[in-house]
Amino acid sequence: MTAMSNPEIAAVIRHSIAHAANGTMDLADEVLKVPASNYTDPARFKREVDGIFKRLPLMLAPTAEMPNPGDFKTLEVAGIPVLLTRGQDGVVRSFINSCTHRGTNVATDDTGNARRFTCPYHGWTFGQNGDLLAVASPGDFGAIDKSCYGLTALPVAERAGLIFGSVDPDSPIDIDTFLSGYDSLLDLFNFKDWYLFSSRRLRGPNWKIAYDGYLDFYHLPVLHKDTLAKMMELGNRALFHAWGPHQRVVAPDRTARMLGDTPESEWRDDQVLTGVWTIFPCISIASFNGGGRGVMISQLLPGDVVGESWTRQIYLMEKAPTDEETIKGAHAQFDMLETVVRDEDYATGLRQQRALDAGMMDHVLFGRNEGGAQAFHGWVDRIIAADDQQLGRMFGLPRAEAAE
Ligand code: FES
Repeated sequence: MTAMSNPEIAAVIRHSIAHAANGTMDLADEVLKVPASNYTDPARFKREVDGIFKRLPLMLAPTAEMPNPGDFKTLEVAGIPVLLTRGQDGVVRSFINSCTHRGTNVATDDTGNARRFTCPYHGWTFGQNGDLLAVASPGDFGAIDKSCYGLTALPVAERAGLIFGSVDPDSPIDIDTFLSGYDSLLDLFNFKDWYLFSSRRLRGPNWKIAYDGYLDFYHLPVLHKDTLAKMMELGNRALFHAWGPHQRVVAPDRTARMLGDTPESEWRDDQVLTGVWTIFPCISIASFNGGGRGVMISQLLPGDVVGESWTRQIYLMEKAPTDEETIKGAHAQFDMLETVVRDEDYATGLRQQRALDAGMMDHVLFGRNEGGAQAFHGWVDRIIAADDQQLGRMFGLPRAEAAE
């Protein structure tokens, strides 16, 4: 099956061809004002962390990061330590990475492969399924019911070659409902068979300042005039297509014009899946071609304070590069993307953060041409205002209610 046989993908491409041919774009109804304090107020930041990152399912890792039985990954989400494991049965599970003896992390490496996890403090051992397998010196320690002291399990699901999970053990959100069918489109990439080429981590400004940039093509030919714009045609127009809170961003540009001049039967998947795919609230997936077909997955997470975020750049490739030239090309592509994001996007964002921190601006603006960011801020506002029941109704019934 090709991507174009999916009617939703076909509709997006035909829409962008029409705009490219007419030199037009979709426009939001009006210019939106967002309070500047949304980016600087610690109380607002806490509401966002608690209301979004600690409640919603998040894309935690691509399958390519832990494809084999025994693979694991650790990460911290909104201050909560998470351990993802893939069991010998191939199933991904998620846990709070906190030993049930006295709480330290049972796994300390970022990634690895292990049949069991032995806590580095006193040596309790846990299985890939979170069960407490052994207490160190059990005769000395005293009797406990081991079945009550497994790692705390978290909701998790693997869809479209991506691993989604929530850090709330009692999350009110059904992961599939939250994905709103978007995963069936992402599945067209076939990420489950892609290769993890490399990853790295960057410090950035407030998570929304950083994320605004991924939804924004308006800045591309200006901020990136000395880098990306020298390598490719960069327009400043974008079309936004929403599935729930998730948005695909497509430029009505050269690729669209080229597709418009080509019979549909000849369109390739890499051409029709191009653009930026965002997964609310903090993922961007953008296609590139250096050294072979690849995507940069940017995973943004809030830092410890309002003016800080951390982005993990994960570079996946459709095929592992094997010869020296393609490996070199892939490294060059990934290094360039790191430089552009760090020295242009985030350097600008950190200056924006400092200027807003001065407290001299009432609001910032998102134009009618910036409909994607307008929609994103609307979702943020609605979600943090919703209690668990309301949130459950937005994205499926709370689990307890659904079980009745
Ligand atoms: Fe893990 Fe003691 S804290 S064994």
